[in-house]
Amino acid sequence: MRVPDSLANAFGEPFERLIADFSAAQGLIPGGDSAGPLDLNESLHSKRFLSRTVVPHILKLSALFNRQEKEQSAALDPYWKESSNPAHLRAAYFLYFMPSNLFRAAAVWAELGRLGFRWPSAISTLKGIEFGAGPAPGACSTAIASKLGILDFPESGNWALIEQDKAMLELGSAWAQKWFAEQGRADWGVRPFHRKLSLSDGFLPRSAPRFNLWMMSFFLNELSESPAEIARALTNAWERHLEEEGVIVLIEPALKLQSRKLLEIRREILILREKKGLDWLQILLPCLGHQACGALASTDDWCHEEATWWRPPYFSQIDKLAGLDRKTLPFSYLVIAKSKRAREEILPGLGKQPDAARRYRLVSPSHKEGREQEFYLCGAEGKRRARYRGPEEQSEEEKKLERGDILVGTEIRGDSKSSRVENFENRV
Ligand SMILES: C[S@@+](CC[C@H](N)C(=O)[O-])C[C@H]1O[C@@H](n2cnc3c(N)ncnc32)[C@H](O)[C@@H]1O
Repeated sequence: MRVPDSLANAFGEPFERLIADFSAAQGLIPGGDSAGPLDLNESLHSKRFLSRTVVPHILKLSALFNRQEKEQSAALDPYWKESSNPAHLRAAYFLYFMPSNLFRAAAVWAELGRLGFRWPSAISTLKGIEFGAGPAPGACSTAIASKLGILDFPESGNWALIEQDKAMLELGSAWAQKWFAEQGRADWGVRPFHRKLSLSDGFLPRSAPRFNLWMMSFFLNELSESPAEIARALTNAWERHLEEEGVIVLIEPALKLQSRKLLEIRREILILREKKGLDWLQILLPCLGHQACGALASTDDWCHEEATWWRPPYFSQIDKLAGLDRKTLPFSYLVIAKSKRAREEILPGLGKQPDAARRYRLVSPSHKEGREQEFYLCGAEGKRRARYRGPEEQSEEEKKLERGDILVGTEIRGDSKSSRVENFENRV
């Protein structure tokens, strides 16, 4: 996924200083009680602090989130409380998973932005809700998208944060409020709701108000319900609690099982759309239509994106100490709109309606095969392996295709096992 340089560079030293000061003030890292400026060498850059306090908890959380199939059938236990040191576990999550999930969510806004999506001018107040919010990276992603000019979210806004862990919710609320102010959205409000969701009661009580932005980041895979049950609860909630032209962003891990669960939720949502005549529901991204999922056609396939950033300096240090390398961040995602407008009107960058059948997205990296590039494309008739040579007069760099690229007005030959992209009118 191509992201603007401004976003890839947004997590450098000023971000590090901000998160360090905030974390120290919250008592997550040492140094919060000293009068002068925080000494990073004694806190976020301290090898001793990182390797003793932060890294073991990051490894523990990574193992938990990477759990295997046998453990997926049950919901995750409320891990924040179960740890031998919950404060350190939350601190590790906040320092490591929060910034990377904030960047991932902002990358989704960048993808919408580059396809020409504009926040509907009729919606003058952002009313966002983030479920399983943890430290609120979804809410925070909209503020940075505004600041960087990626999307023009309204000046006025408020966010409801729903989270089962009280301490995490308090941390997320304080951080979102601080972050909003830093991103020029000081007027945006935050309302925390300490709640453990149970799908049998629905996502929201019937008396809850309507929202226009619905975010769930790394949350759905923690629910034990089946994709069909989740899809039913989601569509019921959107019907009642999402405003016309509202937007839904679901982000999940890139791992096979969790990614497939999201693809299955997409499939079930489309079945309900058909059955119940939910013509207001439009799946926008990453698939450019309502076709059967190309990845689910095989029992062993799944679909994910990747976005590359410049990590905060302390984050690179953690990676080194933990033996991790999170320069490139993978994730699966789905963007849905509650709109009866045509997809091409919502995303004008896709070109005109008659082009829909000639529109493909690269869903794998491309690699060199002699003078050609080889990759997987997904389009109206599913997934196919394809090759592309490109015009002789273009440099290798100009011709290079990347995961996430969309080819519009494509001339293609061959079948799903082996196709050749002869030409395309536009690469988005
Ligand atoms: C992996 S964290 C993701 C946090 C945040 N959304 C992010 O992207 O970094 C999942 C969060 O969902 C919360 N959660 C899980 N099940 C929940 C439920 N049934 N009700 C409320 N919160 C829940 C967990 O406590 C946890 O904070």
